[in-house]
Amino acid sequence: MPLSRRQREILGEMGIPVWVRRDAPPVSLEPAANPPIERPAVEVEVRDVAGLGWEDLRARVAACMACAELASQRTQTVFGVGDPAADWLFIGEAPGAEEDRRGEPFVGPAGQLLDNMLAALALQRGRNVHIANILKCRPPGNRDPKPEEAEACRGFLDRQITLIRPRVIVALGRVAAQSLLGSNEPLGQLRVREHAYRGTPLVVTYHPAYLLRSPGEKAKVWSDLLRARSLVAGA
Ligand code: URA
Repeated sequence: MPLSRRQREILGEMGIPVWVRRDAPPVSLEPAANPPIERPAVEVEVRDVAGLGWEDLRARVAACMACAELASQRTQTVFGVGDPAADWLFIGEAPGAEEDRRGEPFVGPAGQLLDNMLAALALQRGRNVHIANILKCRPPGNRDPKPEEAEACRGFLDRQITLIRPRVIVALGRVAAQSLLGSNEPLGQLRVREHAYRGTPLVVTYHPAYLLRSPGEKAKVWSDLLRARSLVAGA
């Protein structure tokens, strides 16, 4: 079957040569009915971080321009913070305004609550604890990360996890949990099940920002954190 004009255009954009029969009817030079394909604002090469150590990885993140909108609007990237060999890795969603300004995750009001939760476990930011986010850049207006942004950033996070080798990952909130688990299930369903991310036990719990709005859910978070603690102890 002869290729349609649109099919020929798509193949051309992919760099695949298209041979046209000499006796084929002439191709109209009228503008195509369909709009041109939009290129994703994500480059693949930046994710090639296998083998990088902390310093090089941090530099690669700081220079990342993979997501045009995020890169153009950020004050700085927010790499992650903490013990480079922590047993506990907490993963949130993305930097907010305060994190973007200071270059450290969870330093706003939600971060203060996270610090209190750590203290209740006799833990401390930076001591056997590492904190990171699904995204290293602040989404404008604190919108949810787009799936393609999370995908573009994933190599950085995965490399951090490989370097840290935590005993447990705690996913803070729906966005982190769904993104790490590749799931659309509601957080309430994810948090009551056992999970692993790339071989590391993963506990899902509510985001501290949600707890600020719904303090009645703190008991559930506490039981999730106790479960995480028993995973650390038993690992
Ligand atoms: N919320 C997050 O998910 N991450 C931060 O770093 C701050 C707020």
